[in-house]
Amino acid sequence: MLSFLSSIAWWGWILIALVLVAIRDIFIQKAHTISHNFPIVGHLRYWLESIGPEMRQYFVANNREELPFNRIERSWIYASAKKENNYEGFGTDRDIYAHQHIFINNAMMPYKISENHPNAIDKTFLPCAKVMGAFHKRRKPYRPASIINVSAMSFGSLSAKAIESLNKGVKIAGAYHNTGEGGLSPYHSHGGDVIFHFGTGYFGVRAIDGGFSMEKLIKLVEINPFVKAIEIKLSQGAKPGKGGVLPGAKITAELAFIRGVEIGKDVLSPPNHKAFTNVPEMVDFIEKIAESTGLPVGIKAAIGKLEQWEELANIMVETGKGPDFITVDGGEGGTGAAPPSFADHVSLPWVYGFSDLYKLFQDKGLSERIVFIGSGKLGFPAKAAMAFAMGADCINVAREAMMSIGCIQAQVCHTNRCPSGVATQNKWLQNGIDPTLKSERLAQYFKTFRKELVEITHAAGYEHPCQFQMRDVEINVDDHNLSKELNRTYMYEKTPVPFTSMQNLKDCLYLGGKIS
Ligand SMILES: Cc1cc2nc3c(=O)[nH]c(=O)nc-3n(C[C@H](O)[C@H](O)[C@H](O)COP(=O)(O)O)c2cc1C
Repeated sequence: MLSFLSSIAWWGWILIALVLVAIRDIFIQKAHTISHNFPIVGHLRYWLESIGPEMRQYFVANNREELPFNRIERSWIYASAKKENNYEGFGTDRDIYAHQHIFINNAMMPYKISENHPNAIDKTFLPCAKVMGAFHKRRKPYRPASIINVSAMSFGSLSAKAIESLNKGVKIAGAYHNTGEGGLSPYHSHGGDVIFHFGTGYFGVRAIDGGFSMEKLIKLVEINPFVKAIEIKLSQGAKPGKGGVLPGAKITAELAFIRGVEIGKDVLSPPNHKAFTNVPEMVDFIEKIAESTGLPVGIKAAIGKLEQWEELANIMVETGKGPDFITVDGGEGGTGAAPPSFADHVSLPWVYGFSDLYKLFQDKGLSERIVFIGSGKLGFPAKAAMAFAMGADCINVAREAMMSIGCIQAQVCHTNRCPSGVATQNKWLQNGIDPTLKSERLAQYFKTFRKELVEITHAAGYEHPCQFQMRDVEINVDDHNLSKELNRTYMYEKTPVPFTSMQNLKDCLYLGGKIS
């Protein structure tokens, strides 16, 4: 028998394998009609389809074609993060006459900085022009030392190595790191400022019944002085109002400890909060947290209907209470996993949602009391300039931050097979990440971003981007005579931010980021 088998030539074995595959395709498997009808060759279709995204990304798509982030955008982040040449030669390859294209109106003569100006000393110095918690006189107000920061992404959706890189990176860049709703992990504790974020699962501050535990939050803030503010998640752009289940199989001992849940048991994040059921109760909840911790408290949401926001604004006017900051997430926002029906259609894109919300708060005279944070593909200096012109005070970035530490936009965050090790719990894949190197990359991306935004600001004749007004940015509606400034497009004027000088921001008592 053995000598018969060894006498079969190599091509004979290939033939036998193909015959076996054909038998399986025709007689055994029932799931795939194409394989049944076209045995053997039918497999080629499935294989080509599976490598289609990579083929399109590497060879077919043009520079400006892909979504969520096209090649030019990704390359700009990669080059900025590595401090490489991030310029483009020969002029823009973008169709600047295209509909919705943004133009920033430059001044005849740029803003001139003096010899001792903070930006003459550090070109990347760009803190937030407003102080979180100042209006409500919180015991520990906080001025973010960077206008660009890391948006909510949990340990669990990102790997331990990625979270560690981000935290070490924000420390270098003087920015803050939002924990995401998975709790505060040891990987968030490498010295960067942290905004502790929680959602309906109350991970990290969860009572035994699955509700919110104030005792746990007070303790968490006490033993982790780098926590500078609290963010309550109402919704996020990629899946507003959608609850979720964390399967027991994914809950390791480490995850269970950090999130405050049981090992191996499914955990539900319901669509609604248990700690409050309506807007007045939410305001009371915010005040109780601020009172108990002394920290500024904000809310994060994607925008759709405005009735409950109006109720919130009315309560804020009547009582002088309410959130210290509001993070507006755009419908274009990212996530670890969401059904396409939600990600594609539920909630407004950032510009529409933010302009609706800002106008509403401004009409009630509230815009100066609130620090407005924007997220939703805003991690590019010109887009940020537009966001500041519309009333944003800070920018949060999630996927752009991921890319700066090596994410290649493989779009497989939901499979645990992220090839770059950023969005996976697979030890082998994440071991490719060197947190020391990657933290430098995040910090360098943030610094380059701030430097370019400062330069755009100076080109427009201002000292700080908070001085951008709606009329400084135009949006193309096909002809210059028809192109409209933001104030005529979105029908409001931004409330001027009471900015005095960059030096005053530098000297501020509440400036975060441990900048010396
Ligand atoms: C992997 C991943 C995990 C996220 N986790 C959270 C989360 O825990 N809570 C939350 O409010 N938003 C979460 N987000 C949304 C981001 O914080 C951010 O609002 C959104 O992606 C828009 O920012 P971007 O366009 O810069 O990515 C997550 C996004 C990503 C990509």
